[in-house]
Amino acid sequence: MQTQPSRQFPKTRLRRVRRTEFLRAMVRESSLTPADLILPFFVQPGRQLASPIPSMPGVSRLSIDLAVEQAKQARDLGISALAVFPVTPSEVKSLDAAEAWNPDGLAQQTMRAIKDAVPDIGIMSDAALDPFTTHGQDGIIDDAGYVLNDQTVEALVRQSLSHADAGADIIGPSDMMDGRIGAIRDGLENAGFIHTCIMSYAAKYASSYYGPFRDAVGSAGNLGKADKKTYQMDPANVDEAVQEAAMDLAEGADFLMVKPGLPYLDVIARLKADLKAPVTAYHVSGEYAMLEAAAANGWLDRDKVMLETLMSFKRAGADAILTYHALDAARLLQG
Ligand code: PBG
Repeated sequence: MQTQPSRQFPKTRLRRVRRTEFLRAMVRESSLTPADLILPFFVQPGRQLASPIPSMPGVSRLSIDLAVEQAKQARDLGISALAVFPVTPSEVKSLDAAEAWNPDGLAQQTMRAIKDAVPDIGIMSDAALDPFTTHGQDGIIDDAGYVLNDQTVEALVRQSLSHADAGADIIGPSDMMDGRIGAIRDGLENAGFIHTCIMSYAAKYASSYYGPFRDAVGSAGNLGKADKKTYQMDPANVDEAVQEAAMDLAEGADFLMVKPGLPYLDVIARLKADLKAPVTAYHVSGEYAMLEAAAANGWLDRDKVMLETLMSFKRAGADAILTYHALDAARLLQG
């Protein structure tokens, strides 16, 4: 006669593999290392000059010499690459954004200086006109203020060539004009820059999380109450992101980017699942500001939330992450 067990025991106890750190490490599905990180930074004219950005506590605009020092720190921490964002003096802003392709512009000088002093860290450039236009839009506008696509693309090609010439390893078009990846790729190939990568901001949303960045580069005042909804994507859309990204790959992009990051984890996962191409997440300025503000109030444990957030990008399918936390995160990961 069979005896009925007096209790039902679960055969599979998932808690078994959660009990100790070595077991947890054995079943960990995603990993986060300094090599996953790209550090965006803001460069300004001057020498030995660091100007704190109030809406991004812990981040300063740096003169080129200090940016080179920071590049060395980033390299020593194992960070893969830097993304350069120039703070353009208002005197050189114009309607046609010509400063964007000045071979001796701030961004170009910065890239040359870093390539020279720290050749083993990757350099990504920002291909977009907003730091250089008097109205703060990412392109050349008509009388009604509409950003003209094809004229803007021509300017982006010039800007991208000047970045490649200054040593950029990766061009990052962040403007969302149609056809710009193909045009930049043709321009690079024709000029012999066959190794220069393009990281397309393929799914860049018309987001309100960019506020602190616009403060940092000084475009917030130029833009005023205007928005970028005629070229950046509607936050409600995801199929459109797949379409954008597929077009950018076909036009010659090497990497796709999703921006912002945390509110768009589903977009990262979709692009990875549908397209199987390298995907980067941009953990943007507003996301940085939210965590720093909560931590400053003692409401969140900054370091733990930072690493959990960065891991979530890897879990969603991102291969790399642009984050203003890169230096601190790399320190924590190394320690
Ligand atoms: C502009 C650009 C923006 C960011 C990167 N490149 C702002 C915008 O589109 O207005 C935002 C990055 C951030 O918020 O950290 N081409």
